[in-house]
Formats: sequence, C-alpha cells, structure tokens
Amino acid sequence: MPAPEPNKGLGYISNALAAPVSPAEAALRPLTFSDFTGQPKTVERLQVMVGAARRRGDPLNHILISGPPGLGKTTLCFILGHEMGKNVRVTSGPVIEKAGDLAGLLTNLEEGDILFIDEIHRIPKTVEEYLYSAMEDFRLDIMIDQGPNARSVRLSIPKFTLVGATTRAGLLTAPLRSRFTLQTRLDYYDVPTLTGIIKRSCGLLKVALDDSGAREIATRCRGTPRVANNLINFVRDYAQERAKGKITQPVASAALELLEIDAAGLDEMDKRMLRIMAENYRGGPVGMSTIAVAVGEEAETLEEVHEPFLIQEGYLQRTPQGRVLTAKGYQAIGLKPLAGDQGTLL
Ligand SMILES: Nc1ncnc2c1ncn2[C@@H]1O[C@H](COP(=O)(O)OP(=O)(O)OP(=O)(O)O)[C@@H](O)[C@H]1O
Ligand SMILES: [Mg+2]
Repeated sequence: MPAPEPNKGLGYISNALAAPVSPAEAALRPLTFSDFTGQPKTVERLQVMVGAARRRGDPLNHILISGPPGLGKTTLCFILGHEMGKNVRVTSGPVIEKAGDLAGLLTNLEEGDILFIDEIHRIPKTVEEYLYSAMEDFRLDIMIDQGPNARSVRLSIPKFTLVGATTRAGLLTAPLRSRFTLQTRLDYYDVPTLTGIIKRSCGLLKVALDDSGAREIATRCRGTPRVANNLINFVRDYAQERAKGKITQPVASAALELLEIDAAGLDEMDKRMLRIMAENYRGGPVGMSTIAVAVGEEAETLEEVHEPFLIQEGYLQRTPQGRVLTAKGYQAIGLKPLAGDQGTLL
C-alpha cells in the first residue's frame, strides 16, 4: 500500500538556519551554542551528545527539554539542527491526532533529521504508543482497513532524532519519558546572564542602551529571555517617545512602571493572584482552579506561566492542601502577614 499522505497541516520542514518564527523573534534567536548564553548544564550535555554523534556519524539520540515558557526550548532544538547540519521538522503534540498523522511525519524524514514535537505532553495517548516503536526500533506498525479486511502494515522509518519540549514534564507518562536518552530541564536565568542577553538583543536591534538600563530590564523580566526581548521593544519605544532614545536605568524604570511591572518583575496577573489569595482566602491553602476562576484565567496558564516563577521566588508555596501565600507574597502586594497567616493592610 502507498505510504500515508504527508499532512501539510501537521508540521513544516525548516532549514535549521532559518528558524520559523515571527521575524522579530527570529532576528534575536541564537543559532549556535556560542550565541546561546546561560543554562550551562543543559548546554554542556547537548554539546557532548552533538560532538559524539558527529564523530561517529550517527544521528543524535532522543532528547526531552522541559521548563517554563520562553527559556529557550525551541531555540535549543534549532541549535541542535544547525550544529548537526540537519533539517528540523516542527510539529506539536495536540495536532498529531492519529497514528496516520505520525506516520506521515516520520516517513517524510531523512536519516538524521530532527522531529521537534512541542508540547509533547499533549500528544494523544493512542498516538503515544506508536511513538514507542518509532523511537526504539525505527518502525511503525499501523492498522489499515477495518473489520475482516483489517491488517497491520509495518513501515520502516529513517533513523531520526526526536526532540520533545514540554512545560509540564510531570505529565509525561513513564514509558515515553524513559525513551529519551537525555532529559534536561531549563531553569530561570540569573540577572547577570539576562543582562548579557539584553545587551546582545539591543546590539542586534541597534538600540542604544547603557549597563544600568540593561540591568534594570534584567531584574524585571521574570528570569525569562522572551519576556526580556518583549520588554526591550516597549522600552525602546518609550525611550524614543519620552526620552532621548537611549535606554538608561531611569528610562527603563519609567517604561516598566507604565506597563505595571514592578521592581521584582511581577506583572498584573501575578499580583492579582497574590491579592485574591490574601484578601479572599486568608492566604490559603486554596486550590489553583479556585484561584483561576477568581482571576478569570485558565488554571493551566496560571500553572505553566505564573506559578513556577512565584514559587521559585518564594511568593507562593505548594502544599497538598493547595497554594499558600508566603510572607514575601504578602509584602509584594503591600500587605503584612499576621500570626495565623492572615494579611492586613500595611
Ligand atoms: N539563552 C538565550 N540567549 C539568548 N536569547 C534567548 C535564550 N533563550 C531564549 N532566548 C530568546 O527567547 C525567545 C524565546 O525562546 P524559545 O522560543 O526558545 O522559548 P521556549 O522555551 O521554546 O518557549 P515556549 O515554551 O513558549 O515554546 C527566543 O526567540 C530567543 O530569542
Ligand atoms: Mg517553544
């Protein structure tokens, strides 16, 4: 039987040299390990794997990259393609609906190509089982026809590399996770590293900035390069319209005040969560779904985007009973925790 039709909606092949994102993001996205700063452990692990695979002339082993949004998972996958000199085919968990979709993607790869599955924790369970044999034995056994004519067809797949990215590594099943040779997690960036990333981005965008301006943005971007790059765009506009064009500390600070991003980088939604917890739930414990309804946002978004940073910075704690506001959390919204964890206006 003919190979399943490639489904054009499922993903796209990209030359790794031209990362397929918005032009603004593409312009700032590092293309090689030497451009990529921070995440030293992950970078070294990947460099070891790339060096060894290239020396042996083998495809890379499968890699799972996890961590909060905007820290560089997609960027690293394209760097892997670039360093290996291979194509990267990009798709994402929820769009691979059935085994045939996966077959279409896999049979169109060339040996050594990288299949990048973003949000891999959202891949349907029925498709996930096919992925096991594809990753392990580079074959797919798929059923065609139904009823008495049903038969299984074995497809061989070129030796490819699966790079999975996820913001929720905990949601991956153990069998899938165990098929990745390397599982590596990205952490929030520290201020000196972000300062360097901000200077690099401003250099590429030809934006005038001094050290104090770079540092001001770095302390207020939630440890996240994507947020830093977004803030640079606004601060640049502000500098142009309200100052003399150069990003200095006072200019950056005034621009970020206008965006209601506070000195610690907390945004409006972060503070809304903290405030609801303090004022309506006496600091918790309170469940995330309750907080989500109260602030009018999806619980999943709060868990993936807001909560990890709030926990890492010590504003919130996660307990078996629910989320609990810490003393630092009260302070961030101008309240003072009392004995028994209740807040009161300062
Ligand atoms: N280490 C870094 N150095 C410089 N820029 C970086 C770095 N990491 C990320 N960036 C910048 O941040 C942007 C976002 O990174 P990326 O798209 O790789 O994040 P992600 O982890 O895939 O996020 P998501 O979970 O939302 O898909 C990139 O366009 C890139 O410009
Ligand atoms: Mg990504």
